[in-house]
Order: sequence, then structure tokens, then C-alpha cells
Amino acid sequence: MDHLADPTFLRQHCQKWRTQGLTVALVPTMGFLHAGHLSLMDHARTCADRLVVSIFVNPTQFGPNEDLDRYPRDLPHDLKLARAHGVDLVFAPEAGAMYQPDHAAWVDVPELGQVLCGASRPGHFRGVCTVVTKLFGLVRPDFAVFGQKDWQQLAIIRRMARDLELGVAVIGRPIFREADGLAMSSRNVFLTPEERDKASAIRQGLLLVQQAVQAGERDAAKLGLMFRAHLGEKLAMARVDYAELVHPEALSPVARVEAPTLLAVAVFVGRVRLIDNILLEV
Ligand code: PAJ
Repeated sequence: MDHLADPTFLRQHCQKWRTQGLTVALVPTMGFLHAGHLSLMDHARTCADRLVVSIFVNPTQFGPNEDLDRYPRDLPHDLKLARAHGVDLVFAPEAGAMYQPDHAAWVDVPELGQVLCGASRPGHFRGVCTVVTKLFGLVRPDFAVFGQKDWQQLAIIRRMARDLELGVAVIGRPIFREADGLAMSSRNVFLTPEERDKASAIRQGLLLVQQAVQAGERDAAKLGLMFRAHLGEKLAMARVDYAELVHPEALSPVARVEAPTLLAVAVFVGRVRLIDNILLEV
């Protein structure tokens, strides 16, 4: 496995593969890899001849009061995991190698990026789209694999790749969960033991809403309140940032669940912001 920090070397490496007629898959990450990330790599490995994983805590997607400085990092461990999962090349640049001091070009999908997480994290998805575009430009992958845990991110990147003709097949993969249902996240390490213990209430709340839909409830407002009430009862220390029923691609609010609808939630547990979602089928 190769490990590069220089964007120019990354570009040359991937260019060489393409001239050999090899296909390339990319899994972008911010590192501190867990089983969710690894499930994306395992899938990507089956898609293409070569697998590139990027590990980069992208500063432009963090707001001024967010956790950029304390975002967990462990590159040596990540490299071991990547090697064990058949990765051909890990790209782990410094921020200075990715952004010139006078960086001025941005990619944004405002219609999809200003709702849900974008409402409480202004500029977040502009940073995501910009760094993902840069990675696509360097690697020029045939396939790029993303997790459905960040459903909004996946929807935005799909739309960006389609609208800008980026020539990448964007693949979404299911949420990988802990045994009690909590969605795996690099940020879970910041939960106290008590918070961690009770955080499975988020998944239970999503399943409760799904059951209500299956039992015939269609009113989106009622279903959203049902999730909030469940958390109020089971995870009293939490603050719900949002719990919204939206169209799975347009991310626009729906009033009634008459077609597959996404229930997307973000919950502050202590100082940790957790996100999760479920596709409600009727
Ligand atoms: P990060 O949070 O490290 O996630 C990298 C990829 O792993 C994303 O596609 C995310 O959806 C996926 N992922 C995270 N937890 C998962 C889980 N429990 N199950 C399945 N997939 C999971 O998302 C980012 O980094 C960044 O925004 C990035 C796209 C790399 C741009 O900087």
C-alpha cells in the first residue's frame, strides 16, 4: 500500500493507473476509521481495480465554533486498517497542501445544502463539495463510495456530480451500526459512558416512527413529534437540533408520508452532535 501526502504525486499515481486501463474507486474520509468507513472500503474494493482512500480533516467544512481542533486523529492506526482492507493508496495531505493561502474557488449546491444540517452548520456543505471536487479532480475516480449515515451529504454529492458532469459514479452504502443500534461515528468517542449507553434511543426513536408509518400514520408533523417525545423520555439530556421528514432526493419537507420519505435527525448529546436517519417506506 502506498501512502502519499503530496497532491501532485497522487495525481501522477492515478494517471498512471488510468493509462494502464485500470479503473479506480475513491473513498473520501476524515480518518479515525471505524467499521462504517471500512464497510465502504470493502464495497469499493469490489467496484474497481484500484482503491484510493483519502484521510483529510477538511478545515473548510468546519464552522468557527465547531470541533476542527479536537476532531479525533490517529493516522498510524488508520494506515494499518486501510492496509488490512486492501487499500492500494492512502492520500493523507496537510491542510496547506490542499488549500493555497489565497484559495478562492468554491463549489456549492445551495438548494440542498442550506436545509437540515446546513441550517445549523452554514457553509458546511460548501466545504464538503469543494474538497470532494478537489479529490475527484486529483484522483479522477470511476467510482466514489459514501455512507448513507450522511444522507444529505450523499444527496448533495450525487447532485453535484450529475449537474457538473464530473464523470464519477457516486455509490451510497447502508449505515453501519453498533450492536445497540447507535450509528458508528468518529465522534462517538466523545460521549460519556452514560451518554453512550442512552444514545441508542436515537435509533429506537427512528424505528418507532417507522412502526407508526407501517401502522398507517401518514401525518409528518405527528411523526416528527413522536421522535422528539421518545427522545425526551429516553434521552432527556439530549437536545434535538432537527427531526424532519423530507423527500429523499430533493430534501424538501413533506406534509404526508405517501411515498418513500426520509426521516433525518440531528441530536446534541452533551457537546456531541449525532446524526442519523431512516428511509420510511409505505
Ligand atoms: P467522515 O465523517 O470521515 O465519513 C467518511 C465516509 O464514511 C462518509 O461517506 C460517511 O457517510 C461514511 N460513514 C461514516 N459513518 C458511517 C457509518 N456508521 N456507516 C456507513 N458509512 C459511514 O463524511 C466525511 O468524512 C467528510 O464530509 C468527507 C466526505 C470526507 C469530506 O471531507
